[in-house]
Amino acid sequence: MKTDKPSPFQIIDAKFTAGAGIEGGSLPPPTFVEIAFAGRSNSGKSSLINTLVERKSLVRTSSTPGCTRQVNLFEVSARDGMRLMLADLPGYGFAKRSKQERAEWAKLIEGYLRDRATLRAIVILFDARRGIEQDDADLVAFAREPRPAHGSLEVVLVATKIDKMSSSERHARIAQLNKESGARIIGFSSVTTEGRDELWRAIRKAVGFAPAPEARA
Ligand code: GTP
Ligand code: MG
Repeated sequence: MKTDKPSPFQIIDAKFTAGAGIEGGSLPPPTFVEIAFAGRSNSGKSSLINTLVERKSLVRTSSTPGCTRQVNLFEVSARDGMRLMLADLPGYGFAKRSKQERAEWAKLIEGYLRDRATLRAIVILFDARRGIEQDDADLVAFAREPRPAHGSLEVVLVATKIDKMSSSERHARIAQLNKESGARIIGFSSVTTEGRDELWRAIRKAVGFAPAPEARA
């Protein structure tokens, strides 16, 4: 069921800043704290960012995997003064790419995650029905490794598309995923917005922003 309730975190401004991919482009010098969104192609990263910032089409989404082809940065401002950069990353596990192309993508994503000075957290998304697959587990392990030049990243795990399950199924699935991963998994749907506020709380905690007063749970 769609809630349509405005988020207590109220994003008052969200805009595209810059993008960089293997074909070119460069990211601006780091400014605000950054959060990256990563996961398999088609897992729902771009849709999740639109849902988080309550804009229908800030970020381009597609039912065809491989839609996002570069690291795209979005600057967002919340009513309580929080300013963040959200980084939408190209998906991995996209079978139609050549081996060389896949290696170049991995280099781009790993380089960004390792070297971006203002990056504080990574949200790793996977389809709730597929669960955490080998590529996802590899990324989680990579993201948890201390970075040579910058602080460690906080890792937030999100199971997407939970609207495709009944509410009893989704409860059982999240409990199972929590158990399997030994971590807390946030269930999320860009269709119903379920999980949006829980994810905002987790992101704010990960980057050290106090929650908006009206949203303390
Ligand atoms: P790449 O850019 O290719 O890496 O994909 P992505 O992870 O950014 O996925 P995107 O947001 O483009 O969504 C992929 C497809 O899944 C689109 O058809 C979306 O409409 C659909 N989708 C995304 N999130 C949800 C969700 O929560 N529920 C349902 N039912 N569909 C979703
Ligand atoms: Mg995308």
